[in-house]
Amino acid sequence: MIMWIHPVLQTLAALLSLYVLYLGWVRFRFAHLGHKGIVFQWKRHVAQGTAVMTVWALAFVIGLGAAWNNWHVIGITELHYQLGLVMLPMIIFGLGTGVVMDRVKAKRRLLPLAHGVVNALLVLMALCQLYTGVIIIRDMLLA
Ligand code: HEM
Ligand code: HEM
Repeated sequence: MIMWIHPVLQTLAALLSLYVLYLGWVRFRFAHLGHKGIVFQWKRHVAQGTAVMTVWALAFVIGLGAAWNNWHVIGITELHYQLGLVMLPMIIFGLGTGVVMDRVKAKRRLLPLAHGVVNALLVLMALCQLYTGVIIIRDMLLA
């Protein structure tokens, strides 16, 4: 049953990230496209975004542990592993910029944009991880 911890946590976080991205999209429309009369749910975006990124980072380590436990090697899942490695610094950047923008309020343009682009990419990559993760379960764990 331990083998399911990583896939379940990462799948839930990936699904929640779609909603966090939607909240960020609302902010983007207001800040860059001049759409008026919409409210950015700041606190909800910060709380749920923090939950998503904390789980992504922690479950990354759990995934490594699970792979080591099963096969006594790291990197056996190839593309899934490599994409995970690329995601790690992006997660730190996304969380770091988010925390700064939340704690030190200011009128900004570039930092939110960089934060939004990197995090939107992360959501896309998490969906790729979901795809390759399901294939790993099918071909390497249940076969
Ligand atoms: C943010 C998304 C994800 C990241 C960063 C991530 C990262 C990782 C990493 C680093 C490993 C170790 C791989 C190795 O050493 O070769 C791993 C293993 C694994 N991942 Fe993911 N993963 C993510 C999402 C998912 C999802 C959504 C699933 C399945 C639905 C999944 C299923 C697996 C499986 C089955 C393993 C093999 C380890 C085991 O449980 O025995 N992953 N993952
Ligand atoms: C999956 C995770 C996340 C995604 C997809 C995401 C996405 C976005 C997007 C698209 C924007 C709009 C950017 C713009 O207007 O140019 C935004 C803004 C913002 N995000 Fe995130 N975000 C995530 C996580 C976080 C986290 C963890 C925090 C804080 C700890 C955070 C704090 C903020 C703040 C404060 C803004 C507004 C900045 C401003 O306009 O001054 N976000 N986010």
